[in-house]
Amino acid sequence: MVTKKMLDALNDHLNEELYSSYLYLSMASYFEEKNLKGFAQWFRIQSQEEYGHGMKFYGFIIQVGGKVTLKAIKAPKTSWKSIMEVFAETLAHEKHITGLINKLIEQAMQGKEYATNNFLQWFITEQVEEEATVEGIINKLEMIGDAKSGLFMMDRELGARMAGQ
Ligand SMILES: [Fe+2]
Ligand SMILES: [Fe+2]
Repeated sequence: MVTKKMLDALNDHLNEELYSSYLYLSMASYFEEKNLKGFAQWFRIQSQEEYGHGMKFYGFIIQVGGKVTLKAIKAPKTSWKSIMEVFAETLAHEKHITGLINKLIEQAMQGKEYATNNFLQWFITEQVEEEATVEGIINKLEMIGDAKSGLFMMDRELGARMAGQ
């Protein structure tokens, strides 16, 4: 049994994941404009992944007999000062999502909602991976600095990302 309060919180989080998808698609568009196709590809996949996360919430809400109520997705930023700023904001955003997942788990534990708690565990692992990946990219960008050759190589590396990775 999932309480109304928990279902509302899960619905709100579905919106957060869809916003994440929208934010990363906006970042992809920023890189397309700069002709950094590899970076753009990485963010396209990132956006797809976030849509997938949203759909996990969608599926769970339906499975436990709730109703999905979609809300407006806020408009993301459309431009950034630098590549580093994009990734710094990506990391900050992932940390924000991690915090929200932790709060959902606390709520599930307090309400002894075991099924919801179990569903949310997958996201704990996912958030650790996401933060580590973005931190890794930031470290590389710091090493590269202003070197155009490094940026070119990084664009190729990120462009190799496939769906589901
Ligand atoms: Fe996510
Ligand atoms: Fe994420």
